[in-house]
Amino acid sequence: MHYNAEPALHKVAQRNTANLASIFKRIGHTSIIAETVASMINVHAVKEVEGISIVQMGALIYSLSQKDEYTGGHSLRVGRYATLIAGGLGLSEREVRVVGCAGLLHDIGKLAVPRSILINANELSKEEFAIIKNHPRMGHNMLIHMTDSATILNGVLQHHERLNGSGYYGVKGDDIHLCAKIIAVADTFDAIVTDRPYQKGVPPAEALKIMNGLCDRMLIDPHILTALASLPLCS
Ligand SMILES: [Fe+2]
Repeated sequence: MHYNAEPALHKVAQRNTANLASIFKRIGHTSIIAETVASMINVHAVKEVEGISIVQMGALIYSLSQKDEYTGGHSLRVGRYATLIAGGLGLSEREVRVVGCAGLLHDIGKLAVPRSILINANELSKEEFAIIKNHPRMGHNMLIHMTDSATILNGVLQHHERLNGSGYYGVKGDDIHLCAKIIAVADTFDAIVTDRPYQKGVPPAEALKIMNGLCDRMLIDPHILTALASLPLCS
């Protein structure tokens, strides 16, 4: 379904009583957003998370969806998975909500990446990869104007870091923020289970096997993978 969200979004923003569901239903992600919001604890009851209003989140994800529909849907799913994993790890209700927000916005720096690069299914040139590699920093630089939450800012900045230091910026081990480790697992899971033009998604059980291999190579955190594996969506 394609749908012109702008008038509705504007109306919602004017009322300033919007929540994620009412915005995202208007941008066509009806089924996934119902689940996303339901899994974000008490998000209906709040108007902002760490200074970022629900309307701002909606507008950012709406913009990202318009630029690249896949990345818009991916952001919603990663927000949902990150929320569920954070809950499974026993974080507080507030922390779960903040991690969910970071998961939702983790790729927002892709707004600064040309669409021709974002939708390129072929191998990227060195120059194009350098631009893509900068999206976590661009996202961090955008969000720093909205929040001073270390969880959100580090979650976004470090979501491509790997435990052994082989990620985008070479941060490793305990220097990687817990939120970024959660998003990395959620992000990887979604990338493996989702159909792409160049790759068929696999069932969750198969994805977990692949991700166990990533743990062995010290790329993602095994405790967080265990939390993911314990979720009903993986059984
Ligand atoms: Fe990313």
